[in-house]
Amino acid sequence: MERGQRHWHSRAARWLASLALLWALVEAAAHKSDLGSDASSALINHSSLLLHRLQGLLQNGNSSDATLRVRTANSDEVKVIHAHQLLLALQSDVFEGLLLNRSVVTLQEAADCAALFDKFIRYFYCGEISVHLNQAVTLHRLASKYHVSALQRGVAEYMKTHLASESTQGHVVGWYHYAMRVADKSLQESCLQYLAWNLSTVMGSSEWVTVSDDLMVSLLQRSDLVLQCELELFSAVEEWVSKNNPDVPVIEKVLRSIRYAMISPSQLFQIQKESAVLASYHRSVEDLLFQAYQFHSTSPLHFAKYFDVNCSMFVPRNYLSSSWGSQWIINNPARDDRSLSFQTQLGPSNHDSSKKVTWNAIFSPRWLPVSLRPAYSESASGGAQTNRLEDGKPRLVVSSAMSGLDFAGVTFQKTVLVGVRRQQGKVFVKHVYTVHQSTDEATGFLAHADLQKRTSEYLIDNSLHLHIVIKPMYHSLIKGK
Ligand SMILES: *[C@@H]1O[C@H](CO)[C@@H](O)[C@H](O)[C@H]1NC(C)=O
Ligand SMILES: *[C@@H]1O[C@H](CO)[C@@H](O)[C@H](O)[C@H]1NC(C)=O
Ligand SMILES: *[C@@H]1O[C@H](CO)[C@@H](O)[C@H](O)[C@H]1NC(C)=O
Ligand SMILES: *[C@@H]1O[C@H](CO)[C@@H](O)[C@H](O)[C@H]1NC(C)=O
Ligand SMILES: *[C@@H]1O[C@H](CO)[C@@H](O)[C@H](O)[C@H]1NC(C)=O
Repeated sequence: MERGQRHWHSRAARWLASLALLWALVEAAAHKSDLGSDASSALINHSSLLLHRLQGLLQNGNSSDATLRVRTANSDEVKVIHAHQLLLALQSDVFEGLLLNRSVVTLQEAADCAALFDKFIRYFYCGEISVHLNQAVTLHRLASKYHVSALQRGVAEYMKTHLASESTQGHVVGWYHYAMRVADKSLQESCLQYLAWNLSTVMGSSEWVTVSDDLMVSLLQRSDLVLQCELELFSAVEEWVSKNNPDVPVIEKVLRSIRYAMISPSQLFQIQKESAVLASYHRSVEDLLFQAYQFHSTSPLHFAKYFDVNCSMFVPRNYLSSSWGSQWIINNPARDDRSLSFQTQLGPSNHDSSKKVTWNAIFSPRWLPVSLRPAYSESASGGAQTNRLEDGKPRLVVSSAMSGLDFAGVTFQKTVLVGVRRQQGKVFVKHVYTVHQSTDEATGFLAHADLQKRTSEYLIDNSLHLHIVIKPMYHSLIKGK
């Protein structure tokens, strides 16, 4: 026993010494500049060989001084991994602590974590790991549990950049729930925003019924949801309620989050007649329905004299249907300025349903404020002028074509949705800019779009995909006594 142990110690010591030597070689190789500018110096780079050897060490278990026994509840199977304290401790203080005074540790892991445990340990030996959509949560959980912070950050970053990836089941709802459990606010916010901006797609997918009560409530409170119309949202919420059977207070809360004033009175009447959920919970929303009918029966200005319009029910979301705005696909957007004319309804009130407003939009790929424009007298410096023009920034201005139209306290908020390509040609909303008139009011409109580059992620078949939504806001209307 004692001999064996001494033998083991000397082997470990030799092993450590050779590892240290290898690292020293790599370090020296990597710091080529240390060698000076001597023409006879050269870089000997065996770092990939070293990584290969380290992985061999794990594969064959040579000189192993740490045995990990990975167990899963409800299973007799034990996965045994022969590893090395030094490498585990290098990146994980949890392993360091576990291996402090023993060389065999038994770890209890959930089945999905146990299945990826080899892959996870391999990361300690080569610093790389491949991640698939359906492995991200598991790997993040392992990295968090064992305090492998670099991997944890790496996986979180992977998730944030792969929200729009194609998957059969959908993965963002699951990632959101996970982010909420581990209190990763930033990942949670990224998922929530993705879901909000692509709600139509999510509502039509099998992912929709997996949305938790909390997520549903958070989503319905947002005014930046991108969807066809409020009626589409109502139908999806109805489906979610009937498939999930949440608690009554949750049902009441979600039904009260529908903005009934944004649904036309004939459609309101239709859902009141046909919706089973609405029939069961009519008492919980009847005040809102009544108010919506009142809103539709008069002009918003008149309505605002008697009721407080400063509440979410009267704030439109980002509706894609044509009465609210227009899509604008700009081919070869870097070429020159373009304009678009389109009509919207004056507002969502049925009272105004026959009134239309015409809007003019101007898109400039390289707009410069007057103060920065080259003076005409300097026509000699043609070169400098070109440079100046290239300094310009993309800009979009939307204004009403009807001058003198009195909107009396109603402000029209313009929201510009920017769609980008994702795999398999589908488009998803990457940015949402909300302005009063011009994108100058928003910071960084298309700042990183590289519209000149054909390969820009913002160009789909060499076209920029915009959608302008016009939203009347009644906030500023003063409530009478
Ligand atoms: C050494 O080689 C590897 C690939 O084999 C490479 O990634 C690394 O950058 C090289 N190091 C230096 C200092 O050139
Ligand atoms: C590791 O062990 C295997 C088999 O036990 C042996 O063939 C191999 O040479 C060893 N590798 C090193 C680097 O010692
Ligand atoms: C390791 O040491 C800690 C305290 O230093 C002790 O609580 C623990 O029982 C020890 N474990 C083994 C396996 O000896
Ligand atoms: C995102 O939303 C846009 C429009 O809102 C839609 O065209 C697109 O298909 C959606 N993409 C995904 C991935 O949900
Ligand atoms: C609207 O309500 C919010 C809080 O709900 C308040 O901060 C804001 O000042 C109100 N605006 C007007 C115009 O009354």
